[in-house]
Amino acid sequence: MPEAYRTAIGRHFHEVATPALLLHYEVVSANIATMADCLRGRAGLRPHAKSHKCVEIARMQLEAGAIGMTTATVWEAAVLARSGVSDLLIANEVVGETKIQSLIRSARTAPLTVAVDDANNVEALAAASCQAGCTIGVLIDIDVGMGRCGVRTQEEARNLAAQITRHPGLQLRGIMGYEGHCVLEPDREIRARKAAQAMEQLLGFRETLASAGFPIEVVSAGGTGTFDLTAAVQGVTEIQAGSYVFNDATRRAIVPDFAVGLTVLATVVSRYGSTLVIDAGKKTVGVDFTLPRIVGGAATVRGTAEEHMICNAAADCPLRVGDLVEVIPGYCPTTINLHDVYHVVEKGVVRDIWPIVARGRGQVEE
Ligand SMILES: Cc1ncc(COP(=O)(O)O)c(C=O)c1O
Repeated sequence: MPEAYRTAIGRHFHEVATPALLLHYEVVSANIATMADCLRGRAGLRPHAKSHKCVEIARMQLEAGAIGMTTATVWEAAVLARSGVSDLLIANEVVGETKIQSLIRSARTAPLTVAVDDANNVEALAAASCQAGCTIGVLIDIDVGMGRCGVRTQEEARNLAAQITRHPGLQLRGIMGYEGHCVLEPDREIRARKAAQAMEQLLGFRETLASAGFPIEVVSAGGTGTFDLTAAVQGVTEIQAGSYVFNDATRRAIVPDFAVGLTVLATVVSRYGSTLVIDAGKKTVGVDFTLPRIVGGAATVRGTAEEHMICNAAADCPLRVGDLVEVIPGYCPTTINLHDVYHVVEKGVVRDIWPIVARGRGQVEE
């Protein structure tokens, strides 16, 4: 991590050079506590680290009762395994020798489970685990309507289950089915209906596999938009939600239970009548799904360029060149991936700098 970031520690966040990623510590702590409270006595929480890629935040989630962590990449898993996280799920297919070898190194340090949907991939994982003399947990990935990864039929799932259980280095632990096609549906009733259908489908796979004698101890699903709906389904054992930690402009209306804990601090660099320009563009703020928002609503975002965000300002908007604004990202997981560090802000002061270790392409020194 560049040392220059650390010079901000102890200063008011208004003194930080912009654009800068701010983590609002009180809000993030409250969001973590809220999620832990909501899920207590229901499904376990296995928060998705792709939303923060940060060891310090993972530790906060585990201290609040999370049963382990979910990751999207082997590099995120490697960082967490090295830092002592003891139960990891890579909720994604890991394909290719370099990545499988990284997975094996992590599996030597921490119990690790990976998603699969392909017979050749199962063979590659089995060969690597056998050669290393370690065991890898496996979940069969089921497509429950998103149309991304995952097997489509129960026959495919049965065949994979039979194949996995033939290999001593692999332990079939259960199934996962991420209902990603539901999580951003703004209408709660429609979202609930679609998520219920997805979970019914997932539990149908569980039933088939369990009655064929396969051990299905884990049924993993759920995102921030469906965390409470999916956790209420009998048979779902764990929830993979991640973005609740920060929330963002896309999810704010969908899950008002969580406040915005991540902003990008920016400076007004130009004002011409109603056009106001700030120094945070697509290279600093994730704009997927929704345009970013300006905190306080003094201006509304009209468009984004690489290093600029162009906003509409009302005639009475007091913002002038040199003023600071905070931007609520359109989408937090892509925003954090654009930054080296979080400026951890508490009571207006930067109390620490936390590295976003597995950012970018994500490959880390192992
Ligand atoms: C496999 C998987 N699980 C869970 C999630 C939930 O993430 P979020 O909480 O950001 O909606 C995602 C998001 O992309 C995902 O890909």
